[in-house]
Amino acid sequence: MSWRFTRRMLTVFAVGIILICANFVLMNTIQKLDLEQLHLKYRDFIGHGSGRLPSGYYEKTDSKFSEDNSKEGVNDIIRKPWSYNETAAKEERKEMEQYFNPYKVITMTSDDVAHGQLARFYKAKSMDFNIVPAGLHRLLPTKQLFKNERFRTCSVVGNSGILLNSSCGSKIDSSNFVIRCNFASILGYEKDVGVRTNMITFNPSILDKRFKRLATKQDQARFQSKLKAYGNYVLWVPVFTKEYVTRTIRTLLDYLDIYSHTFQNVQLAFPGNVLPEISEFWYSKGVDEERISTGLLMYNIASALCEEIHLFGFYPFSDFDGRPLAYHYDDPPNKTHQHYDWGYRRYHRLPDEFVYLKKLHKKGALKLHIGKC
Ligand code: CDP
Repeated sequence: MSWRFTRRMLTVFAVGIILICANFVLMNTIQKLDLEQLHLKYRDFIGHGSGRLPSGYYEKTDSKFSEDNSKEGVNDIIRKPWSYNETAAKEERKEMEQYFNPYKVITMTSDDVAHGQLARFYKAKSMDFNIVPAGLHRLLPTKQLFKNERFRTCSVVGNSGILLNSSCGSKIDSSNFVIRCNFASILGYEKDVGVRTNMITFNPSILDKRFKRLATKQDQARFQSKLKAYGNYVLWVPVFTKEYVTRTIRTLLDYLDIYSHTFQNVQLAFPGNVLPEISEFWYSKGVDEERISTGLLMYNIASALCEEIHLFGFYPFSDFDGRPLAYHYDDPPNKTHQHYDWGYRRYHRLPDEFVYLKKLHKKGALKLHIGKC
């Protein structure tokens, strides 16, 4: 081997080593930058940075309103005629848009994530991050959903027991766009809740509780038939909320990714880390809770997409017209009403939310449907 050849080989080898090192340094810097940015955002959010949120944001206080106060005026809502006030609805939408981009609340797009990118959990107590899996990139829409669409009327269907025997089904279905919450039942409740679904939410915990995290073939079959039952729709999965749901989300994504050919009817939607901004908006409205309810988040989405918004199944009280109500319309009849004692008080303050929804109803910005339709 000539000295010339050896020298050439050594040069090639040295250049290779330099390139590998440069790549390593670059990747580390990018990752570090990413972490630093997220860290700063995190510090801001918990109030140690610039402190965008008012102090005391996280202190748990008692609900401002008693149930009776919150319920006040319900009879007027039922009896008095209602008409849509376009100006009031537009004002609400405009105010909301000052806090967050509602289309980001609907979903991230595949451009927003890259495999291996880091995502921070909103409610993580420590600096917990999640690595975005490749499947997520494949499952997300390439463009923002509904960007140039506006629906004249929308039904947002909450899960309150008030819907049982309401006969609201046909009214719900008559809207141009129907949003439902948390994989709520339709089968057997059609007369009261309708059958159409354009978007439905799915808290990851549902996969654990109702489908045993798809552990057996039977659980998978039950999940598959439920996924198909809603027709063509957007499956809205709130993520990055708590670190303990990581594994569940991963199971869901892997399942949808593997069987994507079977679920052409389902478009996955993943809102990114938008909850802090949404909470901030609601805080400015006097709604101060550990976590905004799913129904209220759906109202936020509806106000971006829809002109006239109709809310059904938003009634967080244990009785109506002298009769007791189940917490959820699809609760089994023997289920105790434990939720009314502790459920929403722990995470949500639904009566406080209801007070604000009543105001919007009065202004004509939305219509609350309570009782029989
Ligand atoms: O996920 P989350 O606990 O918020 O929702 P859910 O219990 O599945 O119910 C869906 C939505 O319906 C809630 O977020 C509330 O907005 C509404 N709801 C209500 O107003 N009154 C009830 N008794 C139950 C639910």
